[in-house]
Amino acid sequence: EEHVENMKRQLANLFYASLRAAFPNEPDDIEPLVAASTTKFGDYQCNNALGLFTKFKRNGTHYANVHAVGQDIMINLPPSEMIESCSIGGPGFVNVKLSNDWIAKSIQKMLVDGIETWAPRLPVKRVVVDFSSPNIAKEMHVGHLRSTIIGDSIARMLEFSNVEVLRRNHVGDWGTQFGMLIEYLFEQFPNVEDVNETAISDLQAFYKESKKIFDTDVAFKERAQKAVVRLQGGESKYRHAWTQICEISRKEFDKIYECLGVHLEEMGESFYNPYIPKVIEALSNQGLIEVNEDAHVIFIEGFKIPLIVVKKDGGYNYASTDLAALWYRLNEEKADWIIYVTDVGQQQHFDMVFSAAKRAGWLPDNDGTYPKASHVGFGLVLGEDGKRFRTRSSEVVRLVDLLDEAKVRMLEEARVKQKDRLKKGIIAIHWTEEELEQIAEIVGYAAVKYADLKNNRLTNYTFSFKQMLKNKGNTAVALLYAYARICSIIEKPERNIQELKTTGSLVLDHVDECMLGLHLMRFSEVSGSAEETSRLLLCEATVTVMRKCFHLLGIVPRDKI
Ligand code: ARG
Repeated sequence: EEHVENMKRQLANLFYASLRAAFPNEPDDIEPLVAASTTKFGDYQCNNALGLFTKFKRNGTHYANVHAVGQDIMINLPPSEMIESCSIGGPGFVNVKLSNDWIAKSIQKMLVDGIETWAPRLPVKRVVVDFSSPNIAKEMHVGHLRSTIIGDSIARMLEFSNVEVLRRNHVGDWGTQFGMLIEYLFEQFPNVEDVNETAISDLQAFYKESKKIFDTDVAFKERAQKAVVRLQGGESKYRHAWTQICEISRKEFDKIYECLGVHLEEMGESFYNPYIPKVIEALSNQGLIEVNEDAHVIFIEGFKIPLIVVKKDGGYNYASTDLAALWYRLNEEKADWIIYVTDVGQQQHFDMVFSAAKRAGWLPDNDGTYPKASHVGFGLVLGEDGKRFRTRSSEVVRLVDLLDEAKVRMLEEARVKQKDRLKKGIIAIHWTEEELEQIAEIVGYAAVKYADLKNNRLTNYTFSFKQMLKNKGNTAVALLYAYARICSIIEKPERNIQELKTTGSLVLDHVDECMLGLHLMRFSEVSGSAEETSRLLLCEATVTVMRKCFHLLGIVPRDKI
């Protein structure tokens, strides 16, 4: 089915025609400034008049005031089914009131053709989303959880727009810490056969112990450094130990991804390691690399410190790997857009890597063109005490426990509610213990995801089970209940909603219906008796849009909860 432009786009096209007709002497790349209305006089507004008036005034214009400019924009609008009426507001705004008939028709058409026709169109074919990306043997913390949730949602939105998404887990699986880990491993288990999952089940504790010795015992430190060299030289005993350590971490990470329903493809730092020398050499041949205090660096305009690409000791680092990975993604994977999801603390690192790539000519200077690289940063997760999110024992929160707690709290509440209903004789579905658990899991995990996604991405946010599990207000719980309630209206057996989509007719009468209709239509902008029949269709449209929204957020709704 054909693609439908979102309302803002459609209006922008109309206003473009009117601006061209009203001001033929203006350059033809004049951009219509259309936005959702901020006043009650319309649903959308066009804001070009003020800028044009100021410009005309400079050039000695015949316009008496900004209102007259707005008037000219308004009268030149081509006739359109979508517009009910227009008016001029304050500083020449053209207010547009949309036609409810048109909205109703558009929604019904979506019901027949499918919500895919509302998917935004994007000028890219293949995108790498680099997200989650925890580090082997270190803890996967709430920051990685945020990256996982935000990155997954970005990937889902791109996929909805038919973009091929390479979901990359850039796991920290390489570097000097492995020398220390492997050396410690060999000392703990002189017999290689003893090295298995159960032997080093608590990899984080294992990491801490080895780090302690590394920091205090000079001889151990030297042995650890030699171990890195042997690992990097590909010696099989060392490779084997490394593989095993990675495998144990991977199993832990996978538990989280499984809970969250997130799919990722692991391509860790080690994958790009063989490409580093070649990439550094190319950059060096271009004259980008300089020697600075014995390290090899790239100086970047606007930054006081340079980007170190080869350390003093000749080793590579986080930046060398990221340069090689960016090169690989652009040249081997032919991605049009590469998106990195990490906390805002890494902003400068990515700014520098991207600038280096621009200097090397890998990326165009202009950020508006492709291929392009973007850093999607996010703020910290705070505890209710306003400090970094920790458990009571001030240990880092284990993510599995955190998700589990959301589920357990939901389950307790659901049990109490069910008992209460029984006692009061309220007729409702009686859930089995198994069903209750299923529901609690869906709602609990959804609550964690939604609480994370609804906040401003860049500011820190406070993690609160109590807030996120509320069944009223802007929470996943409230939305999932609303969704199930609407489903129950539609799903009466005597109502054949599939047939109604074509035989029934959707009409928007009541102000609340009009409001809901407008909201549903705006979905595609942000990513993007007869009466009873109409209500049912409106319900169906609502659940259709909600279902897609949930999907984009990585939430699985249930028809009954
Ligand atoms: N492993 C890093 C961390 O835990 C995140 C990696 C992000 N991706 C990248 N290409 N640098 O902070």
